[in-house]
Amino acid sequence: MNQNVTPSIFSVGIDDPNVQLFEQQYKLTRGMSYNSYAIIDRQIAVVDSVEAGHADQWLRQISKATDGRAVDYLIVQHMEPDHSACIMEAVDRWPGLKIVTTAKSAAMLAQFFPQADLSDRIQTVKEGDTLQLGDHTLRFIMAPMVHWPEVMVTYDETDKVLFSADAFGKFGAVQHPDDWVSEARRYYINIVGKYGAQVQALLRKLQEPAIRTIAPLHGPVLRENLAFYVDLYHRWSRYEPECKGILVAYSSIYGGTAEAANRLAEMLRRRNCGEIVTMDLSLTDQAEAVAQAFRLSAMVVAAPTYDAALYPPMHDFLHHLRLKNYRNRRVGMIENGSWAPIAAKLMREMLQPLQGIEIVEPVVTVRSRLNAANIDQLEALADAMASDPDTNV
Ligand code: FEO
Repeated sequence: MNQNVTPSIFSVGIDDPNVQLFEQQYKLTRGMSYNSYAIIDRQIAVVDSVEAGHADQWLRQISKATDGRAVDYLIVQHMEPDHSACIMEAVDRWPGLKIVTTAKSAAMLAQFFPQADLSDRIQTVKEGDTLQLGDHTLRFIMAPMVHWPEVMVTYDETDKVLFSADAFGKFGAVQHPDDWVSEARRYYINIVGKYGAQVQALLRKLQEPAIRTIAPLHGPVLRENLAFYVDLYHRWSRYEPECKGILVAYSSIYGGTAEAANRLAEMLRRRNCGEIVTMDLSLTDQAEAVAQAFRLSAMVVAAPTYDAALYPPMHDFLHHLRLKNYRNRRVGMIENGSWAPIAAKLMREMLQPLQGIEIVEPVVTVRSRLNAANIDQLEALADAMASDPDTNV
């Protein structure tokens, strides 16, 4: 993946089109990239390593970019193994190499590589410290919890490149271009979504330096219209919807709850509530359903009772929304139960503690299959969902 980021900065990362899961949980349909960058100057720095199993290719690409010169610095911005797995291969390859990283990362290095004593190879940096390579001056900016506590990003003052660590990354291999927003949203909400306040703190720090290029650790290098990407990050990290609309997320065992959810979706479409998206949580990628909940301005959840508890696909969905700090939305509810419906009570208990969540009345209770009274109740719920101006972003 040797490509020029600037005339003296090369992409030397790994593009894996075949990997199927990220963090062993998020589905990948177009692979994943694990980016790394070589900055060629009187001294040479490499920004981050790559996922395990790719060390040989990574080292080959660095050698090609550096014309075989030794690397002086390995900048470790983040210790999550998708970027740190091959550090020891670099340490062994270049005996003079220094690892430039935060004190927190230095402690994690010892945890991840307990067999190695790296104390004389580590140079710790803190907020605002710089590293002079020759013409290139690198400045380090701390970004705790974007997405682990030890994260920093690196700003090249010379070429005005921001090495943004996980920020501005996405799912998908670079060789498979796709809709950036869709896979960056799914990545952001599910990987970093919990840490909106910390992302806001980083965005405030990034207002000052002039940035021409963003070089993330996943996905393509961003060179044009950077304000578009930064604006999206502002919106996502403030938990603001991207557009007016309602996600109708349902799970259904024998179709009764699905019928109720789809009838409600038709009623909402007739009421001009913006984009109406229905998702069957048993069939949909969970991470995409979570991302859609954040994208839209309101949500309706519909689920049956199961084993005197909430049907597991809906329980998993709401659990993930809680993990990612879902907030500031109006939520309608439909429950189903043939003998003792308690799904709505349980969904309310999961959602109500979240900041800024308003449960919209009436909650509709279906007994097995829709009846005439249910249709009236769904119409009333549709009216209530449509009536609030906040639903209409
Ligand atoms: Fe791409 Fe947080 O690692």
